[in-house]
Amino acid sequence: MVVKHSRGSYEISTMSVEEVFQKLDPEAPIITDNNLEAYYAKFLNGRKVLVLQAGEGTKNFANYQKCLEWLATQKVQRSQSIVALGGGVVGDLVGIVAATYLRGVKHIQVPTSLLAMVDSSVGGKVGIDLPQGKNLVGAFWPPSEVLLATEFLKTLPHEQVINGMAEVWKYAFIVAPELTPLLEESDRDYAKIVNLCIDLKRQTVEADEFETTGQRATLNFGHTIGHAIEQASDYQLLHGQAISIGMVLEARLGENLGITPTGTATKIQSYLQRTGLPTTQKATNPEQLLDFMRSDKKVSGSELAFALLTDLGACKLFRGISEKNVLEVLSAN
Ligand code: GLY
Repeated sequence: MVVKHSRGSYEISTMSVEEVFQKLDPEAPIITDNNLEAYYAKFLNGRKVLVLQAGEGTKNFANYQKCLEWLATQKVQRSQSIVALGGGVVGDLVGIVAATYLRGVKHIQVPTSLLAMVDSSVGGKVGIDLPQGKNLVGAFWPPSEVLLATEFLKTLPHEQVINGMAEVWKYAFIVAPELTPLLEESDRDYAKIVNLCIDLKRQTVEADEFETTGQRATLNFGHTIGHAIEQASDYQLLHGQAISIGMVLEARLGENLGITPTGTATKIQSYLQRTGLPTTQKATNPEQLLDFMRSDKKVSGSELAFALLTDLGACKLFRGISEKNVLEVLSAN
């Protein structure tokens, strides 16, 4: 599959784990996390590898600087590509490092989590978090290649697979309700699911690469509230868990505003619950969540913006949502 963007295009190639490591230049600098280092040591031995601590807390300035300094120490040159071997955290961090090291070098995304496969490795959004909010520093910096091996999912902890399922359900809710039976199967065909989701992501980012028309912003369904919940939990909740709760609350917000058909939030909630995802978070302070939402990238002036469902399988960006409406939904959670 080829993804087109304003500066060219890149290929998403499907292969086995072994083929991924055969394809990578033996001299290529690889940035990964400690879980992957342990599982894939036999492929990493003898290569240039920087190992980071797994977890959202790693996506910060300290590690951004650490990666840049490591590349400089290794004398990595402009002609070389940096490899992001990992989930969304490693992918986003390596992407912003690649966008800025020597004023920009190529990077190869090797997504190893379900979440990274279906979402973050495609589309070129890269970045790190600030104490004030998620992904507040970043760039649009597309990879030069995505090497996709769904075989990596075999070593992914079950909790992380379920975490990724939140982003998978998101596609069913915003654009592809026909995915639903596939996602409800007890023995899910992840290779098929990943390919269908990547194609949906490809279509969206090709249509609205820089998130200017509102189409790409539909991928943010559940994320405005979800990011705030994730931040309020001090990243104890995984991203997928937080956006699962966020999707239910944003569906309820849409219902209260007369945008989303009544009953949608309940349907969404039962799909997510059956998958093993949380859909409520009692111990949150609505005022604090609202304050975190004021740092959301979609905010313009004092107006909040939300990607809301106009139906199950259809989504649109709405601006000018009042804080009172949002507080009402958060307080009822
Ligand atoms: N993860 C949402 C986007 O790439 O736009």
